Amino acid sequence: MEIRFRDSTVERIKAGLLVVPVREKKLDDPQLRALDRRLNGNLRARIQKSKFTGAEGSTLLYTTSGLLPAAQLLLIGIGGEAESAADTWRKIGARARREAVAIGAEDVALCFAPGTNAESAAGAVVEGALLAAYQFNKYRSNAKPAAEVKFLTLFSPGLRPTAALQRAVERARATVPGVFLARDLTNEPPSVATARFLGEQAERHCRGSGLTVEVWGKKKIEAMKLAGLLAVNRGSHEEPRFIKIHYRPAGKPRKKVALIGKGITFDSGGLSLKPSKAMETMKLDMAGGAAVIATMSCLPKLGFDVETTGYVPTTDNLPGHNAQKPGDVIRYLNGKTIEVLNTDAEGRLILADALALAAQQKPDYMINLATLTGACMVALGTQVAGLFSNHPPLADALLRSAGETGEKLWQLPLVKEYKESIKSGVADMKNIGGAHGGAIIAALILQEFVGEVPWAHLDIAGPAFTETDNLIGPKGGTGFGVRTLVNFLSSL
Ligand code: BES
Ligand code: MN
Ligand code: ZN
Repeated sequence: MEIRFRDSTVERIKAGLLVVPVREKKLDDPQLRALDRRLNGNLRARIQKSKFTGAEGSTLLYTTSGLLPAAQLLLIGIGGEAESAADTWRKIGARARREAVAIGAEDVALCFAPGTNAESAAGAVVEGALLAAYQFNKYRSNAKPAAEVKFLTLFSPGLRPTAALQRAVERARATVPGVFLARDLTNEPPSVATARFLGEQAERHCRGSGLTVEVWGKKKIEAMKLAGLLAVNRGSHEEPRFIKIHYRPAGKPRKKVALIGKGITFDSGGLSLKPSKAMETMKLDMAGGAAVIATMSCLPKLGFDVETTGYVPTTDNLPGHNAQKPGDVIRYLNGKTIEVLNTDAEGRLILADALALAAQQKPDYMINLATLTGACMVALGTQVAGLFSNHPPLADALLRSAGETGEKLWQLPLVKEYKESIKSGVADMKNIGGAHGGAIIAALILQEFVGEVPWAHLDIAGPAFTETDNLIGPKGGTGFGVRTLVNFLSSL
């Protein structure tokens, strides 16, 4: 899809599909009036007969029958807000592409309404249009490739292709392949996407200037004393991997950031076995690791002056003959010990190693992403990730970054009084607490391993995977976190 900018009006633009955003109850705006005149008053009549009011998400498709250079006209409601949020523009981009595919239009022209800040809208529109193209059809025998949209023209009277507009488009172009990579890795069946596979994919995709990848096998993991990863891996037939990806910017780094992702390629629960229904989607349990690998893969193209290291501990969690047992104790490289009372609380066990290791490098910020707890889904539902942090400015920066990308984050508290519930009879702590506040308990356990480093934990159990098709992507892995992390890194 080629992106073009044009200085034009709605009556003059030539396209297979002309998309016009319409504010709610502003059906007499000058653009609509101009179109209506050219369409002999029939557009107004059609709108009046329809239920189209410009409410956010509503659409109306109109065939122009040769009366305009554009063959079809799509009105998209953008709701009542004076300045539409980036996410509204993202959805417009996605809707425009889906409608174009549905009617077989190869070139789409989208107009910015008068008064729109084109520089903030353009990146979001392009991102939405690109994201909507994702499909995972590798395992379908009857899949047809979706029709291509060749051109997306963004226009308004007087629009100039400024450097800021071009940069916004480049940013979207550099980020969306990362989102697709994270989705692909998450969607692969669990017996394909093993720890070894994730290591190979990291090596394959994290290339380019400044990036280096190390994939540690079992021997190196033993030598590095990553005891949590080894403990969880004990039930498995597959060897674990520890993936470390480093990005060194060309210029002097402004900041040093560590990204850590949970890479459980399949979570059966281990000896504390899950019921079969709960296992159906447990290939998603490496979505945090996928987001980290994918974000790292975008960095050479983005070129931020931020030194970034990605860490992904990865294994499956299975009940093999040598599996760790409830009651076992893990001794970590920072000296702390955890009594494992539930082998299904395994994410925190492998993240503890990775956080302790990352903290040794004294990064400015450390951010981990993990499909960590069902409890977080109970609290926030399937669309919102939980955010925990020991550093309010970092939490605020992440909330801002997420807000701009349309990825939903909500901060939850690290309630230190709840540490009482993870006291162990034999070790420094146990890996589960009581019946309530499970997302907080898990976060408190992670916090034991970050020392004084400013740290944030994103519990992405809900939004990492969707059971329904959405505008910006189908059922399955969502690539949640990639866009927020990229936006966060760009803001440093
Ligand atoms: N991977 C799961 C969390 C999860 C559940 C992610 C549902 C996505 C959807 C995690 O390893 C887990 O099993 N957590 C347990 C913790 C409990 C044993 C303390 C949970 O949430 O039930
Ligand atoms: Mn589990
Ligand atoms: Zn898990």
